[in-house]
Amino acid sequence: MRDEDLSKPTDAPQSIYGIDKWGADLVSVMDNGDLGLKNPLKADAPVVSLPKIIRDLDEQGVQTPLVLRVSSFLELGIRSINEGFSRAIEKSGYRGVYRGVFPIKVNQQAQVVDRIVEFGRPYSFGLEAGSKPELVVALTHRLARDALIVCNGVKDAEFIRLAILSRKLGFNTVVVLESPKELETVLEVVAELDQEPLLGVRVKLTNEISGNWAESSGDRSTFGMPTDQLVTVIDRLREAGLLHCLKLQHSHLGSQIPDVNDVRRAVGEACRYFAELTREGAPLTHLDLGGGLGVDYTGEKSATENSINYSVDEYCANVVETVTYAMDEAGLEHPTLVTESGRAVVASSSMLIFNVLETTLYDAPASPAPHEGDHHLVGDLAAIKDYLGPDRLQESLNDAIFYRNELRALFRRGYIDLRQMGRAEEMFLHLMAKIKTLAPEAGNAAQIDAHLEKIADIYHCNFSLFQSLPDVWAIDQLHPVVPMQRLNEVPDRRAVLSDITCDSDGKIDRFILEDGVSPSLPVHSITDHEPYYLCVFFVGAYQETLGDLHNLFGDTNAVTIELRDDGEFDLLHEQEGDTIAEVLSYVEYEPRDCIAAFRSIVDQEISEARLKASDRKMLMAAYRDSINGYTYYE
Ligand SMILES: Cc1ncc(COP(=O)(O)O)c(C=O)c1O
Repeated sequence: MRDEDLSKPTDAPQSIYGIDKWGADLVSVMDNGDLGLKNPLKADAPVVSLPKIIRDLDEQGVQTPLVLRVSSFLELGIRSINEGFSRAIEKSGYRGVYRGVFPIKVNQQAQVVDRIVEFGRPYSFGLEAGSKPELVVALTHRLARDALIVCNGVKDAEFIRLAILSRKLGFNTVVVLESPKELETVLEVVAELDQEPLLGVRVKLTNEISGNWAESSGDRSTFGMPTDQLVTVIDRLREAGLLHCLKLQHSHLGSQIPDVNDVRRAVGEACRYFAELTREGAPLTHLDLGGGLGVDYTGEKSATENSINYSVDEYCANVVETVTYAMDEAGLEHPTLVTESGRAVVASSSMLIFNVLETTLYDAPASPAPHEGDHHLVGDLAAIKDYLGPDRLQESLNDAIFYRNELRALFRRGYIDLRQMGRAEEMFLHLMAKIKTLAPEAGNAAQIDAHLEKIADIYHCNFSLFQSLPDVWAIDQLHPVVPMQRLNEVPDRRAVLSDITCDSDGKIDRFILEDGVSPSLPVHSITDHEPYYLCVFFVGAYQETLGDLHNLFGDTNAVTIELRDDGEFDLLHEQEGDTIAEVLSYVEYEPRDCIAAFRSIVDQEISEARLKASDRKMLMAAYRDSINGYTYYE
């Protein structure tokens, strides 16, 4: 097949994965069934084959599992929000500007933050630091002269001192006051320095949002000052002669806001505070609306937990319109608009790619006949095939499960022997194979899912859910998952994906498909001669940061690539995943001591004549290879 043929999208069986709903700008399926990456910044650039990328990386010594970061996807994230606000500002005649900041906590990896700063420079895009270490990171970057560094979170004197002193270097670092107590620390630090601070104040809005982060909003949210504390802070700042330093008002509603009307309501409330604080004499110039701009993980375009009912442009337009009305009504200048969008900027820029290691198939190709003398339930089980059909699918499934379970109970009590039980299990699995084949004719998608849920195969995959997709485990986050190859073949199996931790929670069993969320993923039978890879999308936000070392699986390899105009790619950066030695050191083991301890066990076995001295070299080499190797299946 010629290259130009490969780059053409097709509309064959791949539509089941709903790619056009959630990933139309970024991915498509090529004629040869490969998943392809589109360059979202160049409409006419050829699609780049993802399997080819993985093969090339493998040849260069980079194995799966790996996180693949695509530079132009990240650039698109930065452009979308900045140009979205520019368009909205221009359209509505807003008289202020937009100066967004990226919250480092959403993806702290140096390769990601460096690129955000680079792509954001033309837009004077800044950084948000929610902790001292994040401020330390922010201050290593040469931001545009008018970009902001917004410091949120609990701050000690050291944090505040560094933030204020950084102004001497030309950084526009804003210390956002989280409480009256924090203000007292700020006043103490200011008294030591010959540098005025830039101050912000964090307001607790009373409006609540829907979705997974409802608790981050409203009265019971942890951060931000209620009205009485705001009054205290204003009075105290005036008394200390520093009210003129209060330039920014901040509020944050929570992440992944599903409903754009929640955004409008909250922005309206934030504007009321802005007007009132201004009336109190605070010379506010910046209105910071925090994060919350969501990602449409499922592509449903609805106000549900894993989706949003608005686009980036709509979000920007709603914010600008609401602030315009509110400021005009209050007779105020239009402030500089600040948002701290993290998820929407980085989620789509990374994907997790892993290989299937083996499969547990939940069916059998043939059914043995019952033997003379078999228990009558074995005959009942065998008879199901006579009435099994699309119209009696559920009934057949119920019966098969019932008879099989009864037979298992008889086996446990010693009434039937191993071979009879083996026959029954095989008959059952063959019935399951038939049910899977008939399910698509049996009714709507939800019914089919219900039929197949308990009989899906298990595909054992080379990744750790806890390290690479922690939100899937913790908050039932959904991410699109798609086979990376053979998308021109009808997937012949349905599977759940289990990871390589020894934890039964380490599995993905909710999948985004064209017609909704399903408990199993359509996949292809795997063969011995060809690796089978799966790709999980939208993992750029929070997943790398929140991952943990369950079972001591460490960071995966991570590569940053750029898509080229000739259908190839450039490898911009490779970050090797953790070695076993590295993860051991995180949990207080010193790798050298581990080697020494193993050696002493070997030597003792030799000295007590339980091991041949000639085995020493081989044992030590095996231990060293392991400790210096990748934590995942190699
Ligand atoms: C203060 C603050 N700003 C910004 C964000 C980023 O939010 P998002 O990723 O939803 O844009 C967060 C995250 O919760 C936050 O706590």
